[in-house]
Amino acid sequence: MRHACLLLMLVMTIAPTAPSAQYARKSSVAHRGASAYAPEHTLASYRLALDQGADFVEQDLAVTRDGVLVCLHDPSLERTTNVETLFPDRFTAIEIEGQTRKAWLANDFTLAEVKRLDAGSWFGAKFANERVPTFDEAVALIKGKAGLFPELKTPEIYEGRNVRFEELVAAALDKHGLRGGGTDPRTPVILQTFGEASARKLAQMRIGVPVVLLIGRPDGWDAARVKQWKGVVQGFGPAKDILRQLPDFVRWAHAEGLTVTPYTFRVGDLGTFPSLRAEMEHYLYTIGVDALFTNNPDQFPRR
Ligand code: G3P
Ligand code: CA
Repeated sequence: MRHACLLLMLVMTIAPTAPSAQYARKSSVAHRGASAYAPEHTLASYRLALDQGADFVEQDLAVTRDGVLVCLHDPSLERTTNVETLFPDRFTAIEIEGQTRKAWLANDFTLAEVKRLDAGSWFGAKFANERVPTFDEAVALIKGKAGLFPELKTPEIYEGRNVRFEELVAAALDKHGLRGGGTDPRTPVILQTFGEASARKLAQMRIGVPVVLLIGRPDGWDAARVKQWKGVVQGFGPAKDILRQLPDFVRWAHAEGLTVTPYTFRVGDLGTFPSLRAEMEHYLYTIGVDALFTNNPDQFPRR
């Protein structure tokens, strides 16, 4: 008995503070799919992420003019498709940091129009047949093989256009049996957003899956602000540099039972680390994050 107590005390001393049960193990999130090797947010990049053993595959979500959820990082289509060639006049002039530029907003195009676009050639000629996937298509590919990590991207755009983004996501999860009772344990779902109002709305809706609040800047974050989010979200997704600027952030979050999933781990953004694997090792096993977003799920270090 005495030995059992001593062992328990030892385990309590050396084990990291337990975050919520959101992750079954230290997890890789394939950022935009295996986007180091295939064009982001295409079925090719999602398929490769599954082949590379990703625990979760990320989808950034946008909404088409006819209300369909599609997987696209930017609010507009021109960076990753040939929309300018096919629809040269269908742009909106937008102002960013004092500069006006043309943007082909996804929300101005129907799904049928989006499906005409080539979403792969910008990355490599062999991907010319890749299309912008719908969220339904992403689920059909990934369900039963890995988790899903959809991001409600730029919710403020949809707020201004009377698009009920959060409700659309909830309906999509219901359609695929991905929340509530009877969900597939091989396909956990975690939602994420930079939008604080959107995160609060998901909590008010009792969305029924964990929600991660993304954080782009360290300003104003301390233990008290972390605590304020308890009960609203189940974790944070900070830019990885924030964890170096605020070295206590993981401790603050874990103390509240909230997870930490930093972004983005990719070759070409290593700082002083000798390799991507070494960088991910450091964040996972020294800093103690629970999961991380990476463009290279094949290099995720398991222990
Ligand atoms: O969602 C986590 C990370 O993907 C946030 O950055 O711009 O790639 O969506 P971004
Ligand atoms: Ca994202």
